[in-house]
Amino acid sequence: MRTILVTGGAGFIGANFIRFVLNARPAYQIINVDSLTYSGNLENLAGLERDERYRFVKADILDVAAMGPLMEEADAIVHMAAESHVDRSILDSTPFVQTNIAGTQVLLDAARKAERMGRFLYVSTDEVYGSLPLEDTSVLFTEETPLAPNSPYAASKTGGDLLARAYHHTFGMDIVTTRCSNNFGPYQFPEKVIPLFVTNLVEGKKVPLYGDGLNVRDWLHVDDHCEAILAVLEKGISGEVYNVGGNNERSNLELTHSILGLMGCGEEMIEYVCDRPGHDRRYAIDASKIKRELGWEPTRSAWPEAMAATVEWYKANAEWWQRVRSGAYRAYYEQQYGAR
Ligand code: NAD
Ligand code: TYD
Repeated sequence: MRTILVTGGAGFIGANFIRFVLNARPAYQIINVDSLTYSGNLENLAGLERDERYRFVKADILDVAAMGPLMEEADAIVHMAAESHVDRSILDSTPFVQTNIAGTQVLLDAARKAERMGRFLYVSTDEVYGSLPLEDTSVLFTEETPLAPNSPYAASKTGGDLLARAYHHTFGMDIVTTRCSNNFGPYQFPEKVIPLFVTNLVEGKKVPLYGDGLNVRDWLHVDDHCEAILAVLEKGISGEVYNVGGNNERSNLELTHSILGLMGCGEEMIEYVCDRPGHDRRYAIDASKIKRELGWEPTRSAWPEAMAATVEWYKANAEWWQRVRSGAYRAYYEQQYGAR
């Protein structure tokens, strides 16, 4: 039996990862530690409460006293607790620096002291590399691309990424890092573009497209990301970084047209709004290393089928996102952006 401590397991990727691992690895146990911020939601894990291989602990990763004993119970940690939304980091970067940098340091120190703890996997992001030009589509992010984060979110993730690197180098800790592109799939908080646009359209609202809509993202289904994380956890080489991507570059305008088509809506539902400050133009991942070395490649991200299935999930699970959108989230969102 192998016990994995997952941080941030009540969020979008965390909840999908826990479900994925419990399915794929019957001999694994999972401890999920999450402080349940606005984006953490135990409903994302509904049904697992009675699974003996799963345990939830409500705690903040900044809480040194709570993290120490948890580390002693686990053989490995997959650290993905984070403040994760670029727009929020522009409004207030404080929680980003606290959770994504200081929180990562707390976990690294706790892991270093824990006798049983083996591998530490840091879930990073392709946003640490900054932005690529639109003009030359042959240029991709490789693991050697210099780190040049542009948003406070990306800078805080880079801080955690570099701390993980330094703890491997300085203390010889067994640390691996994944840098993944934009994920899509079930249980994504409806502030991110895909669930925001789908849920707006269900409610008859327009979709706010930033700037000229030509910014490009590389879209990967969350289950492909989960499989990649598991592959790096089990087979990755200590100290190495692995890019993870979908070979699935789409402009936001193309993505929006695809969602409009799937929802049976027309162009008139697009509202061009002013651009995000410092908006990265293009992300595109060279994921050849993880394929070559660990045999992973995406199999669930095919376009447009995977996107259509995701849109269907949000249509079929309106109760989930209506609850998520109410309360604290809605109050915060309307205060910052006005009602959309
Ligand atoms: P999310 O916002 O949906 O989930 C984050 C989770 O972390 C939430 O459950 C939240 O409650 C928890 N959390 C936040 N601060 C905490 C703290 N101080 N202590 C304990 N728990 C805390 O985010 P996500 O989209 O699932 O992203 C998960 C990870 O993957 C992040 O590290 C993110 O940087 C990375 N990532 C995300 C994407 C993407 O497209 N979503 C792509 C690449 C990498
Ligand atoms: P997002 O889902 O916030 O992810 P990230 O910023 O981490 O890539 O945004 C994806 C793209 O969609 C990004 O280029 C910004 C754009 N976007 C909009 O055009 N309108 C929106 O309301 C949001 C949230 C994002």
